[in-house]
Order: sequence, then structure tokens, then C-alpha cells
Amino acid sequence: MSIQVAPSILAADFANLQSEVEMLNRSEADYIHVDIMDGVFVPNISFGIPVTEAIYRHSKKPLDVHLMVVNPDLYLEAFRNAGASVISVHLEACSHLHRSLQTIRSLGAKTGVTLNPHTPVSGLGDIIQDIDIVCLMSVNPGFGGQKFIENTYHKIARLKDLILSKGSKTLIEVDGGVNLENAPRLKEMGADILVAGSFVFNSMDPVKTIADLKAI
Ligand code: DX5
Ligand code: ZN
Repeated sequence: MSIQVAPSILAADFANLQSEVEMLNRSEADYIHVDIMDGVFVPNISFGIPVTEAIYRHSKKPLDVHLMVVNPDLYLEAFRNAGASVISVHLEACSHLHRSLQTIRSLGAKTGVTLNPHTPVSGLGDIIQDIDIVCLMSVNPGFGGQKFIENTYHKIARLKDLILSKGSKTLIEVDGGVNLENAPRLKEMGADILVAGSFVFNSMDPVKTIADLKAI
């Protein structure tokens, strides 16, 4: 199966959000990745529900919403109403992850769980069947444009083993520092979805860059 690509709108020109979304509509992107940062879970603030709604209004692509917030349970319904197709919560932010995932499912969205670089994939053993997409952070969340953490390759392989051993259909997403240099090995190790922010939006031709990532 060809790799799926989820460009991160965090790296877009926010003053021209509509045309950036329209550019993604014309591209081969599979999702638009939407990074929500609350300034507490991560040391940065991005944007919230009204901006997500505005992106959704113009988007022909499903929204993959990555919640980098404490107490994500408080906002699951609001982000679903704002157009999220996938809602991803951080394992580190959820004391009752099973309940959070049940809520996401009951709202009709796909369930996502994101792990920080230091969080072992073994913590997902008893919940993997309930997760549609596990997102492995390959940078410390909070900022675009950071350097890819090499340990991610092995982490993908361990996660793939865990998914197969449980007979689950969970997909593996990788988020942070993805580019055309590391993408082939990420795919080889078992990644299904690649998030790419600055590599796409800072390129001369983002539509072509997305096509190049799809073609690895
Ligand atoms: C980081 C975000 C990422 C980020 C990726 O906190 O979760 O989605 O936007 O951006 P790049 O591809 O520039 O690392
Ligand atoms: Zn993200």
C-alpha cells in the first residue's frame, strides 16, 4: 500500500489559510494534520476550535487533529463538531485513555493516540485494539521545523510487532522532522502515514513535494 501523507497546516501561511487549504485540496494529501497546542502540555500555543472549523469549511481532505493539550476530554466533542475525522490524544495527557477513546469513537471519529519520544510503545499493549492510528512523535511536540529523532525507526518496528502480535489493524503515523531523506526508511520500518509540515510548506512546490512523498 502506498504511504499516506498528512501535511501539517502548522507550517502554512496563516494569513492565507484558505488558499493554503485549497492548495492541499489539489494535492495528493490524504489528510490535513491540524496541530492544537495549549501552552501547557507543550511550550507553545497554536490555534484552536474556530480556526479548525475555518480549515474544515474549505477542506476536501479529512482533518487529522493532534491535540497537544492537557485534559483533552474537555474538547473532544468540540473538535469533532469542528470537523475532525481523526482525533489524536497524547497518552501522557490521559489518565483514562480507554474512556477517552470510547468517547472519540462514540462521536464518530477515528481514534488516535500519540506518544512522546520518551514514551515506550509497550504501554499500548492493552489498548491497541481500540486505536485506529498510533502517532509516534519523532520530535518533541510543540514546534515545527525540528530535527528528526533517529530512535523513531526502532520504535516503529517495535510498534509494528505489537500491532501484529495482537492482530490489530492499527496504523502507524510518524510526526516531526519528516522529509524525503528519512521517509523511505520510515516506510520500510512500517510507517503508514507521514506527517510533514515545514518540508512541504517551505518547499518551492508543495503539491509536488507531497506527490514525491507519496511516491517513495
Ligand atoms: C509538532 C507537531 C508536528 C509539526 C510537524 O509539535 O505535532 O505536527 O507540525 O512539523 P515538521 O514537519 O516541520 O517537523
Ligand atoms: Zn502534529
